Amino acid sequence: VFNFSAGPAVLPEDVLREAADEMLDYKGCGMSVMEMSHRSGEFAQIIQTAEQDLRDLMGIPGNYRVLFMQGGGTAQFSAIPLNLLNGGVGDYIVSGSWSKKAAKEAARMGRARVIASSEDDGFNRIPDLENLHIDEDASYVYLCHNETITGTVYHELPETGDVPLVADISSSFLSEPIDVSRFGLLFGGVQKNIGPAGVAIVIVRDDLIPEKTPDGVPIILDYRTTADKGSLYNTPPCYTIYICGKVFKWLKAQGGIEAIGRRNHAKADALYGYLDKSDLFKTTVRKQDRSIMNVPFVTGDADLDAAFIEACRQAGIVNIKGHRSVGGMRASIYNAMPIEGVNALLDVMESFERSHG
Ligand SMILES: Cc1ncc(COP(=O)(O)O)c(C=O)c1O
Repeated sequence: VFNFSAGPAVLPEDVLREAADEMLDYKGCGMSVMEMSHRSGEFAQIIQTAEQDLRDLMGIPGNYRVLFMQGGGTAQFSAIPLNLLNGGVGDYIVSGSWSKKAAKEAARMGRARVIASSEDDGFNRIPDLENLHIDEDASYVYLCHNETITGTVYHELPETGDVPLVADISSSFLSEPIDVSRFGLLFGGVQKNIGPAGVAIVIVRDDLIPEKTPDGVPIILDYRTTADKGSLYNTPPCYTIYICGKVFKWLKAQGGIEAIGRRNHAKADALYGYLDKSDLFKTTVRKQDRSIMNVPFVTGDADLDAAFIEACRQAGIVNIKGHRSVGGMRASIYNAMPIEGVNALLDVMESFERSHG
């Protein structure tokens, strides 16, 4: 099938086949990666290679640490204020459900403020970034780079001066080039563009990691301990990290992030191009803020939406139903979705529009 799920999501078939080949015997060691100690030489090689390949792909500067953490993206909603607030305030730009959740959690952990929001417009756009009022004692400015549910992305970043910018890149991770040095911290759950659920990757500038574990911070959310222990303070999700590593190798073989970014834009352009001329299907997002990863669209009629989703299912197109808070459809077109999948979806859209338009 062509799997348009928003996450967990499609993975490259080559990676799955390679993992299947190695399932019972990883490189002659006689066991599966699932069975080996996280303290073994084999696993040390796996996690170190994964980190290096990610560094190469994203051009991560040397003064940033890469942390493999648990608890998904959601654990970072707590970890960020716990590690970074340091008596200051977290300034949040709320562009959708995920940044809203992060702001709410930060307010439970310490002081947090919403400095811009597009909620009044149903999160169909990125909030206005001109005239942002950043607090004098802001410890960071937070945004969700790509809102998975409503399908918006920042094509430009806000100016925050010396205040570090923190971004959730769960659903835009490695989708196109991004200048890491513009951020103090980037993080994302891997289960959309990188691997199976179970890991969040945090890319954080050295000087933002507290010198020692702040009081009251659970050790499992502590950046200092995680960094000092090379993400091996406790047992990590070894198998997930192993698959992430394979996806990084796959991305390199595809020509890296510039090449994959061009492919992603081509896929998104094909879909939006059709939506812009369709009389039946409509996008829900302001044009300049459209995500290249998650494309929500609607007919405006719940019965027609349901009929379309069924027509997709019959054509081998699955997980195209929109999030329950938006309705309609959502096509998540992550790195591993081939252009053939988008073309197959366009074929169903065209024939459905001919018969129902
Ligand atoms: C942008 C974004 N941030 C955070 C999350 C939460 O991640 P998790 O489910 O790994 O906690 C999601 C989940 O879909 C997401 O799309």
